[in-house]
Amino acid sequence: MRPTIAKILTSSFALLAPIVVTSQALAQQDEVTFHKDIEPILQRSCQNCHRVGGAGPMPLITYEQVAPFAGLIEYKTGLRDRAGAMPPWYMEKNIGIQDYKDDPSLSDEELAAISAWARNGTPQGNVADAPEALSFDDSTKWKAGEPDLVVVMNDVTKLAGTPDWWGEIDYMPIGLEEDRYVKSVEVVEVNDVDTSAAAGTVGGRYIFHHMIWGTAQLDENGERQGFSIPWPVHEVGRNADIFDEDAGRLLKAGTAIVSDSVHLHSNGRDTTGHMEVGFRFHPKGYEPKYKPSFIGLGNGVDISITGNQKDQELHAYTVLQQHTKVVTFEPHLHAPGERMCLEAIWGYTVETLSCVGYDHNWVRGYPYADDAAPILPKGTILHIVGYMNNTDSNPNVPDPRNWQGSGNRSVTNMFIDLGIRVELTDEQFAEAMEERRQVLNLGPNDHVIGCPLCLAPLVAPVAEQRELDGDEVAAN
Ligand code: HEC
Repeated sequence: MRPTIAKILTSSFALLAPIVVTSQALAQQDEVTFHKDIEPILQRSCQNCHRVGGAGPMPLITYEQVAPFAGLIEYKTGLRDRAGAMPPWYMEKNIGIQDYKDDPSLSDEELAAISAWARNGTPQGNVADAPEALSFDDSTKWKAGEPDLVVVMNDVTKLAGTPDWWGEIDYMPIGLEEDRYVKSVEVVEVNDVDTSAAAGTVGGRYIFHHMIWGTAQLDENGERQGFSIPWPVHEVGRNADIFDEDAGRLLKAGTAIVSDSVHLHSNGRDTTGHMEVGFRFHPKGYEPKYKPSFIGLGNGVDISITGNQKDQELHAYTVLQQHTKVVTFEPHLHAPGERMCLEAIWGYTVETLSCVGYDHNWVRGYPYADDAAPILPKGTILHIVGYMNNTDSNPNVPDPRNWQGSGNRSVTNMFIDLGIRVELTDEQFAEAMEERRQVLNLGPNDHVIGCPLCLAPLVAPVAEQRELDGDEVAAN
């Protein structure tokens, strides 16, 4: 076949590539404006925090508010998945599963637009191109959606310059009259910090470092009775927990929120604040299909981190005793933690499911999208790898000369995947894989990360079984 004109043009232009690219890039830069290109990005991924009363130190709403920060915005968004990046979401985009719920991260095109805009004199553009402004009311503090039940805990006060405090806070009855299954739970701190005075860091904005909490029955004296049911730990900078659609968690009527492990820290100003716990419910009559899985994945025993050295690895493994769906990945490290990867090993298959950067100021959970959550057969080995940077290039480490072991304080270490997982029976496992094949329209030559048996001939007997069932139904 003779080369077409387009091809000839492309190949001769290839020689001129550097010049062509530059002039093209310049032409594109001219087109990037605040109202048309930047404002929609800010609305989707930033304004939730960067508004008056939000978690961010400065509002990023109007052109006048945003333009002076253009260079800093280019830098912070350009960090992508490393500590310090904005928005605080550190999923690596070049490895593993890429579909997550409530993912605020920016695409390559959006990062390029920000960069072009910042380097090209921050043109404002035409107001007519602007998206409709978002309105912020009290409900916007709930990132996972307006809760059906909000439990407001009692106020506590932390004075400027006082040492950290650990302990128990007042129990609070939830005021629920019938049992309900919970879709998602979110904990937010509401306090009297003056957000118009730049808070600087997320630690300067809040006083609760974390709250380990549960729900329990109280007796007539307000004393806790029996065990409490644990709910996901709240930590500073943490996002909401969205449970698997088919594994809602039971919230019992007449219980109270209890916590004997709250860590408060001073943010430099006298501050009074409290926690609010927002539950979203499944409709009445909902029954969960899957059981939660309580397999631990981590190693707190023999952590040993050398001083003044980066790229130190920690490893931990667990063997799944049941078929398992991984609902969220939640790396939990401490100050030297820089990155964590989750890997599934099944037979000869070794797959990286997710790798995320880590910033101990922002503890985040990463909920897999429904059609992307790993479905792993029993016998799979889950493996986490932690990457530690104990040098002065890690601003979270106070003194990198120190050796570090395990412990509860931020200057000692934890190494855990706190992610949520559910168990599947043989039948549910086959069903979940069948659903995945259909939803993703998988053919025999496809491969999907996190579902090693999705296309294996191993599932064939189940299909035959189903045909049998079908015949029986037909015969009846
Ligand atoms: C979940 C809340 C949240 C979201 C979402 C968020 N930020 Fe931030 N941002 C903060 C907080 C809190 C800080 C203070 C520094 C810290 O604690 O990391 C900050 C710091 C910054 C800074 C540095 C300010 C300084 O003076 O050092 C910039 C720039 C910034 N954010 C831009 C953005 C942009 C642009 C987006 C969206 C693409 C975004 N942020 C999304 C909460 C948020």
